[in-house]
Amino acid sequence: MAAPMCKQLMSNRLLTIFGVKTINRLYYIKTRHNDKSRNFFSTSGHNYKESYQVIINEFGNPNNVLEGISVQLPSKIGPNQMLVKVLMSPINPSDINMIEGTYHIRPALPCVGGNEGVGEIIEVGPSVEGFHPGDWVISSIAARSADSLAAGLWRQFLIPEPSNVIKIPNDMPVIGAATLAVNPCTAYRMICDFAKLNPGDILIQNGANSAVGQCVIQLAKHWGIKTINIIRDRPQKDELVNFLHDLGGDIVLTENERKQGDLKEIIQTIPEKPKLALNCVGGDSSAHLVASLGKDGVIVTYGGMSRRPVMIPTGPTIFNRIKAYGYWNTDWMKENLHSPMKANMFRELCEFIAKGILKPPEADLFHIKDFKTAVSESMEGFKGKKKILVMDDRLL
Ligand SMILES: NC(=O)c1ccc[n+]([C@@H]2O[C@H](COP(=O)([O-])OP(=O)(O)OC[C@H]3O[C@@H](n4cnc5c(N)ncnc54)[C@H](OP(=O)(O)O)[C@@H]3O)[C@@H](O)[C@H]2O)c1
Repeated sequence: MAAPMCKQLMSNRLLTIFGVKTINRLYYIKTRHNDKSRNFFSTSGHNYKESYQVIINEFGNPNNVLEGISVQLPSKIGPNQMLVKVLMSPINPSDINMIEGTYHIRPALPCVGGNEGVGEIIEVGPSVEGFHPGDWVISSIAARSADSLAAGLWRQFLIPEPSNVIKIPNDMPVIGAATLAVNPCTAYRMICDFAKLNPGDILIQNGANSAVGQCVIQLAKHWGIKTINIIRDRPQKDELVNFLHDLGGDIVLTENERKQGDLKEIIQTIPEKPKLALNCVGGDSSAHLVASLGKDGVIVTYGGMSRRPVMIPTGPTIFNRIKAYGYWNTDWMKENLHSPMKANMFRELCEFIAKGILKPPEADLFHIKDFKTAVSESMEGFKGKKKILVMDDRLL
């Protein structure tokens, strides 16, 4: 077996034995106990010469169209720039769709892949205010467009201007920081913005074990909202059901149980029907979510993992006055570039992650140079854990 593959398997095994939380905690301790110079990759000026990055050369099968290359870093950064060492960047379904060319945004090619992640500032230019070496930053999704995709995060170094990044506290688990910008924000907005939910109210969701689904469960639990969670059937189903219960999910059902009438039975026995349904699957799974809603219920579609159209049954829509919406986090971020709502949300989510109210997704970590294995595994069904690219050996 090739050496890097061995190493990957070893690190995966260690992850399995010790759990991602342990890895997070190790990193957390390192940064916390080194308070004066939190800069994990401490340096004065910068001596970095090259940056390894994963390029999308053409749209197509992600197993075939990605390439890892090293590029020269400029020896000096501009006055309004900073040098950021990317720490980790996840592989999300939208990254895969973007590579396939099926996503709403089609970047100009070639470009660097990856739209989310966390980095640590190594150096700031003389005109930069409010950012310092050692600060952690995430990329401002609001800036995501065909052009700024050139700033994709599957790379070791990034040279952004301050307006393209958001500073976040560096006292949280690094996996939590790397996966903050998309899924927790999506879960937060969908719970808060579409239906008036009070403690004790119920929401229902499919794809409940997805990273978004896990955030929904935890935020809902924290806010006193009950959740009915639908997952796909699998061999080790009980393990996943227990995991989602432990996260705070109230009811967990499989798609087969739903089809066999278990959901209908539950809905008939509860006094108040769900007010909100969150759909990332589509097809008949979305139809059953709608059918379980009460009067004036709302369904929000945010993903289409089954690649089938959203199905909305006629009867419940008419007689229960159902409203159907779509949610796209990129749009919300653009529209709320400087809004207090956005600042509050990030402050609250960072606090939740730091306090363990919102746990980072279970993750398999891969060195960026093992991107091919990571990308390929991320496309397998029932993968269980988020695949995350790590840009430095010391974080593996
Ligand atoms: N609109 C937005 O702004 C926004 C923001 C964030 C995410 N999203 C979308 O939300 C969805 C989840 O994202 P994530 O990052 O949380 O994903 P993730 O952690 O990678 O999880 C993927 C989920 O999709 C399920 N799935 C995979 N293939 C499926 C299929 N053929 N049929 C039904 N379910 C399938 C998986 O279930 P198994 O475990 O059973 O495979 C898992 O629950 C994606 O569609 C993503 O694009 C949208």
